[in-house]
Amino acid sequence: MSYLNSAQKAAYERDGFLAIPDFATPAEIQSLRERAAHWVEQLSSEMDRSVFSTEDQESNSNRYFLESANRISVFMESEDNAGQGHRVNKLGHAMHRLDPVFRGFTEQGKFIELFRDLGFKQPRAVQSMYIFKQPRIGGLVASHQDSAFLYTEPHSVIGFWLAIDDATLDNGCLWAIPGGQKEVLRRRFVREGEDTCSFQQLDPRPLPEEGYEALEVKAGTLVLLHGQLPHKSEANRSGKTRQAFTLHVVEGEALYPESNWLQIKAEPSIS
Ligand code: FE2
Repeated sequence: MSYLNSAQKAAYERDGFLAIPDFATPAEIQSLRERAAHWVEQLSSEMDRSVFSTEDQESNSNRYFLESANRISVFMESEDNAGQGHRVNKLGHAMHRLDPVFRGFTEQGKFIELFRDLGFKQPRAVQSMYIFKQPRIGGLVASHQDSAFLYTEPHSVIGFWLAIDDATLDNGCLWAIPGGQKEVLRRRFVREGEDTCSFQQLDPRPLPEEGYEALEVKAGTLVLLHGQLPHKSEANRSGKTRQAFTLHVVEGEALYPESNWLQIKAEPSIS
């Protein structure tokens, strides 16, 4: 079985991204939304030690961040101009392994077919995130390439970005450069000892600042993002959330270095 038709495959090859409308049903969207709210409630006691700055990834190089590879952890917005209940930036990074609802969603046949269509021989889902992009305070995410964070040799990571809310210009939709997957990888986020990570420069040229296209999509749309594709999102200045669920998959046959920040332990521990 194939999930993508030949026109969709060609569009992904050409652009480095592809929006698939109605990938998730309204019932699936609702169950993911409710499950995320459940985890925010569960993790409320951790919230004051997990400030997450989307503008300064290096500040995340600490034990809490690194351990989230094998947990369901909560990360907060650094901008503190709203009530405590609205400051959650995201949940990460092992919901797809530890939570039955997220796991059930990502292990469905439609994902398996999609992975095969995209050329994965041994698809390995390594990371999931639930992003809240809160009204008025949800921060921007600067342009980046996902291969910087989930590096393999050869490059293999693909991002699967599911809109839980409609994503618009107002609430901080994705932006990407059509054909930008041909850009070489500029940097890698690598471990340095136990608790720290830093960026290793691979190519000194900055990522392009021009040529981005807004990906305004309806809730339920799945956006595929090639690992070298420069993409970003603006801050949410609207009065509504822009929630999204993301899954990142690498090729199991590729080399996955021990210097990557995310190292999967065989026995995941539930928070
Ligand atoms: Fe990304």
